[in-house]
Amino acid sequence: KRRIVSGVQPTGSIHLGNYLGAIKNWISLQDTYDTLFFIVDLHAITLPYDTQQLHKATRDTAAIYLACGVDTSKASVFVQSHVRAHVELMWLLSSATPIGWLNRMIQFKEKSRKAGDENVGVALLTYPVLMASDILLYQSDYVPVGEDQKQHLELTRELAERVNYLYGGRKWKKLGGRGGVIFKVPEPLIPPAGARVMSLTDGLSKMSKSAPSDQSRINLLDPKDVIANKIKRCKTDSFPGLEFDNPERPECNNLLTIYQLVSGKGKEDVKQECENMNWGSFKILLTDALVDHLHPIQVRYNEIISDSAFLDEVLADGARKASSIADVTVNNLYQAMGFLRR
Ligand code: TYM
Repeated sequence: KRRIVSGVQPTGSIHLGNYLGAIKNWISLQDTYDTLFFIVDLHAITLPYDTQQLHKATRDTAAIYLACGVDTSKASVFVQSHVRAHVELMWLLSSATPIGWLNRMIQFKEKSRKAGDENVGVALLTYPVLMASDILLYQSDYVPVGEDQKQHLELTRELAERVNYLYGGRKWKKLGGRGGVIFKVPEPLIPPAGARVMSLTDGLSKMSKSAPSDQSRINLLDPKDVIANKIKRCKTDSFPGLEFDNPERPECNNLLTIYQLVSGKGKEDVKQECENMNWGSFKILLTDALVDHLHPIQVRYNEIISDSAFLDEVLADGARKASSIADVTVNNLYQAMGFLRR
């Protein structure tokens, strides 16, 4: 079976962008692929964070995965920091990563510009190396993510190729290893719709956990009245009718796409249904579709989060399975890099 890995940071609350861009797409892949879904807690400390909240957010994120339909009889769900190989591989990969590659990362540039040099930890710069480790450890074939992770995936691919070139092949064999390719070179899986869900208050910036205003996003656990209020107040425009793909109407395209995805209808059907609608009627339709889609997820979330023994077991099981795969990869790399092994 080909393998798929992906993960979400346990920072802030999981929103519709995380769901439509990533988690929702994981579900349909579980039957065909060997899947591992992690909660990337080690990534969540790259910017100032609340130590009192991290463990709760980690559990919440795990519960949300399951509530959204991740099936633990098929997929492994685990916490990144429970599998030590992530950090171990990161150090080895760091030695093969040119600083220039990291300096070029858009997310690093944006986040560090906002925070200022004296406030930016080294981990914000080296973050993509940890992300590459998350993926390469498991010899993953595909990584289902939203569009904003594309550049990190490209770096992961380049790093895999570089390490294969530097340490793989016959060089590795001469050291007593099996020779050949150390890492599989993974490919991103970016969905045709939902890869970039935009803010409700500005159709030109992406929906994000860190945006100061909660009005800008729909959180997966938002109650019905909060969703209704956010949609009621969201930014629209004054063009007649509703349409997809008009660059002058980013909010309209975004809201129609959200409706398409949560209603499960095709784009063509939504286009016809909504082309002559006004914002007032569409907002009611969208609110109902959102509430109908999210309500069952919220019910399941509440069940799962209240059974902590079950959740602990799922995470322990997942970490065991993940470690057994990850350890092989790290040991191979140590050997290929010439380390004395015990
Ligand atoms: P994170 O936690 O920022 O986001 C989790 C997933 O949600 C997607 N996403 C979006 N998709 C569409 N529209 C949006 N507005 C939106 N916002 C976020 C992201 O693309 C992502 O798929 N570095 C990653 C986490 C990570 C990871 C990994 C992912 C760490 N290691 C290994 C895959 C494989 C991140 O910060 O995602």
